[in-house]
Amino acid sequence: MSPRTPSESKTTLTDLVLPSETNPLGNMFGGELLARMDRAASIAARRHSRRIVVTVSVNHVAFNKVIPLGSVVTVEATISRAFKTSMEVFIDVLLEDRQSGKRTKANEAIFTFVAVDENGHPVEVPEIRPETDLEQERYAAALRRRQLSLVLAGKLKAQDATELKAIFEQ
Ligand SMILES: CC(C)(COP(=O)(O)OP(=O)(O)OC[C@H]1O[C@@H](n2cnc3c(N)ncnc32)[C@H](O)[C@@H]1OP(=O)(O)O)[C@@H](O)C(=O)NCCC(=O)NCCS
Repeated sequence: MSPRTPSESKTTLTDLVLPSETNPLGNMFGGELLARMDRAASIAARRHSRRIVVTVSVNHVAFNKVIPLGSVVTVEATISRAFKTSMEVFIDVLLEDRQSGKRTKANEAIFTFVAVDENGHPVEVPEIRPETDLEQERYAAALRRRQLSLVLAGKLKAQDATELKAIFEQ
């Protein structure tokens, strides 16, 4: 399988925040934003692998800014690294100013997806070839994030998380 670039599968979803998607303060529910993130990220993972994909882990979510009713929200999902059957996806959430049209980053998340066959068994995915400085940076750090996620999930022993341990030994 030949490697693919992050831009080949990058996925952008833009939508409004409606009243039914807000909390009593009139801001977007976290769960609604998570659903939009999952949708965008799954499309990016499917485009990269050209397979059925499932979410295996929500590695990180930061709700840094509130998103008011009526906001135009853009969710951008980009594959940062592909391993054997899994793919790490970065999700950036941008808010659009009505008058200037300028977009600013409000929130971010990192999810992991696995490509599967028709029976739900993991299958191999193409490698990713990062191009920009940001893509290179996210690619390089993905291995230790994967190890942290596997340790927290009880799927990797802490002593075997070599990349992760290296941070503390520097
Ligand atoms: C995802 C799933 C197919 C994995 O099956 P599995 O038999 O556990 O497969 P493995 O343990 O070999 O893991 C597959 C890959 O996921 C990775 N992985 C598993 N758990 C992970 C975690 N918590 N964080 C990061 N990566 C993880 C593994 O490292 C492996 O990656 P690699 O092949 O690139 O090295 C299976 O767990 C599943 O179907 N889960 C439910 C998915 C789902 O329904 N999601 C929607 C939420 S309801």
